Amino acid sequence: MRFYLTTPIYYVNSTPTIGHAYTTIAADIVVRHHRQRGDDTFFLTGVDEHADKVARVAAEQGLEPRAYADRIVGVWQELPRRVDATNDFFIRTSDDGHKAFVQDFLQRIRDNGRDDIYQDVYAGFYCVGCEAFKTEEELVDGKCPDHGTVPEWIEEKNWFFRLSAYQDRLLAIYDEQPDFVLPQFRYNEARSFIAGGLRDFSISRATQTWGVPIPWDPDQVAYVWADALVNYLSALRYAPGKDLERFWPAVHFLAKDILRFHCVYWPALLLAAGFEPPRQLFVHGYLTVDQRKISKSLGNAIDPLDLIDLYGVDAVRFWCARQVSFGQDGNVALDSFGERYDAELANDLGNLVSRTTAMIARYRGGRLTRSPGPGAFDAASLRETIVEQFDRYDITGALDSIWQAVRALNQHVEASAPWNLAKDEARSAELDAVLYDLADGIVAVAVALAPYLPETAPRILEALGQPVDVAIDRVAPGVAVEAEGIEPATPLFPRVDAAAPAA
Ligand code: MSP
Repeated sequence: MRFYLTTPIYYVNSTPTIGHAYTTIAADIVVRHHRQRGDDTFFLTGVDEHADKVARVAAEQGLEPRAYADRIVGVWQELPRRVDATNDFFIRTSDDGHKAFVQDFLQRIRDNGRDDIYQDVYAGFYCVGCEAFKTEEELVDGKCPDHGTVPEWIEEKNWFFRLSAYQDRLLAIYDEQPDFVLPQFRYNEARSFIAGGLRDFSISRATQTWGVPIPWDPDQVAYVWADALVNYLSALRYAPGKDLERFWPAVHFLAKDILRFHCVYWPALLLAAGFEPPRQLFVHGYLTVDQRKISKSLGNAIDPLDLIDLYGVDAVRFWCARQVSFGQDGNVALDSFGERYDAELANDLGNLVSRTTAMIARYRGGRLTRSPGPGAFDAASLRETIVEQFDRYDITGALDSIWQAVRALNQHVEASAPWNLAKDEARSAELDAVLYDLADGIVAVAVALAPYLPETAPRILEALGQPVDVAIDRVAPGVAVEAEGIEPATPLFPRVDAAAPAA
């Protein structure tokens, strides 16, 4: 199967927070899972540069927007690398290939014979933080509720997109595909927004120069969203690789802040330009500190790189998937970071591997024989369960299923007490079966965990003398092969004494 997954492209007006890392990590977990299934995958992330707020930050620093973007883009390119994300391409909207495609895309809409693009005067309140016009009903005490700022009054002659003409076609997509948007409550939110009637929106800016020129009116530039959304398609045109267009349509991951742009505007723009709508959209919640979204403008940002330096990348990935049920809003209590690390990674998983390898080393001279017992858990049904959960992007549920297996393995150690069996020569076969079941269960668990813990999973497999192959069909009973030279594994998750960085 083909699987194309995207993250939003992040604004470069500031540096990455744990909130941006969150989407990138979640997407990477899902992509890695699809690779385990042998799917033909493409994973895209990148940055959104042509925003007015980017031009403003550049001006504050006395730089041209492009020079500013070139300077800051490095930290954004580093984000996927630091969180071990395996994106196939990193898009910048200032790439020539992207800009050319945006022009092409807008021209296709203009030429579609339905008069979908027309000129009009727009006047309204504009929130630069959202890069969107706001109706008075959307404001709270005259301010944008997301950014806490008073929007600016903008009045100019622009090119408009006839979104209102797409209401029925959008509703038809939603009705034909009840999982077009997930989770279900986000589908309902998007569908009722469409059903409530759609207003045309302006796709150009007359007063800005930082952006992609409108091909038939180069005095105006494309509205940042009409430029940014197109990245999901433009990348397939010019990223290195063969025949990338086969990957369309994509699955998009995003947070609820940009639901309308993705679930309403984007499919309509695609239809207007003659492309298939996205395959699916998954809208997750915000990581919040004290009920407020983490963001640089709110001053409560957490630098993901600090957490990674302290705990390692796998711990951060694990925490992102585990702490907050993916799809719901979550609260970030950083003390829980250390607690989970100690209780679950160091103890439940780390100790299990240390104990098992130590027992094989001590009782069997490091030799694992193929001597299956009843098994500690049903690995085949674990595989079926996680595949089904991943098909719903339920990365938290799948991790929970895996963790139940980790717990079952720990219980198996306690219940079978290998240290007693080892004292009794007559129970040697029983001991072999227990050790094999433990090793075999750990192999299945390590393979299942590979999308979440890409550094640790191979270490576990190596510690048990097993091939480092994380194909999903290895989440099965009896996969562990005979091995020799197994030594007590060094701790996978060593103690971290430093306090978690302050929020
Ligand atoms: N540039 C636009 C997106 C264009 S996509 C065609 C944009 N950029 S952004 O930098 O503001 O990124 C927003 C996205 O970052 C969210 O939709 C989400 O994926 C991620 N997050 C940023 N902060 C977040 C949290 N505190 N919690 C969860 N996700 C967060 O919007």
